[in-house]
Amino acid sequence: MAISGVMRLGEVALRVLDMDAALHHYIDIVGLQKVTGDTGHVYLKCWDEHDHHSVILRSADSAGMDYCAFKCRADADLDRFAEGAKAFGLEVSELAAEERLASGRRIRFQVPTGHWVELYAHKEQNGNGLPLRNPDPFPDGLKGIAPGRLEHCFVYGPDSAAAARFFTDVLDFSVSERLELPDGSTKACFLACNTAMHDIGIVEHNEPGKFHHMSFWLDSPEEIYRAALLLGKNDVPIDEGPTQHGIGRAKTIYFWDPSGNRNEVFSGSYLSYPDRPALTWDAAQIGKAISYPQRRMAETFMTVLT
Ligand SMILES: [Fe+2]
Repeated sequence: MAISGVMRLGEVALRVLDMDAALHHYIDIVGLQKVTGDTGHVYLKCWDEHDHHSVILRSADSAGMDYCAFKCRADADLDRFAEGAKAFGLEVSELAAEERLASGRRIRFQVPTGHWVELYAHKEQNGNGLPLRNPDPFPDGLKGIAPGRLEHCFVYGPDSAAAARFFTDVLDFSVSERLELPDGSTKACFLACNTAMHDIGIVEHNEPGKFHHMSFWLDSPEEIYRAALLLGKNDVPIDEGPTQHGIGRAKTIYFWDPSGNRNEVFSGSYLSYPDRPALTWDAAQIGKAISYPQRRMAETFMTVLT
């Protein structure tokens, strides 16, 4: 296996204000599958994920993200990254196996933007509903938009340059694209750990620990358009799109869950191997960067966070 170290975003733990409304949104409209849970915590997954779950909803008084977790290739990666994180100056704690549901041991730390990040190498697998021999292209009974997998998450916080440096220097991520302010500083940084265009994005912002969106992969631009119609059919408020980003060339829609957390469906971006040169967008081109054909974006897009 050529991929080593951090493989992918494996989990987003999200706070929701009304669990019943959240479950209607995420299961009936977005089309995630409920794995287990009760009124306090519900564990969901996308249909083509083999791991036990990828999205956790927690009932809370405020919306936002509790933490995001990345899956590593090998257990020894956790020790290597823990040492690196400590050397970088972060406090690192260890969670024993099963302290998180269906998970092997984890390391946990707070990156400079104030977000909690966890790394793990093992999670129980419960399959994607298809056999491993001669599988059909998709299982029966898919509902709603039905994305195949969790794609990336996007966060806002202070000292984003240090956070990006942590992801590149300690966790071996690559910068695929960045949005540059006139003074040369980075407003937004897109960071990839595998061949995705990005697995996490970080935006400079004065409040720590803020959540912009989590994104779900769809296989084609046609599925993005179908998702737009399903969002319309269910009166789900849309923040931006359907459109195409200049950044990443991805076809996209941003929409809101009932708690005000932003979701995205995403398709058609390029592969970003680590030797691909990083791209830079000038802040003056932010309209094209976010929504290329319209060359502008919703007022809420850069300002509403949870
Ligand atoms: Fe995104």
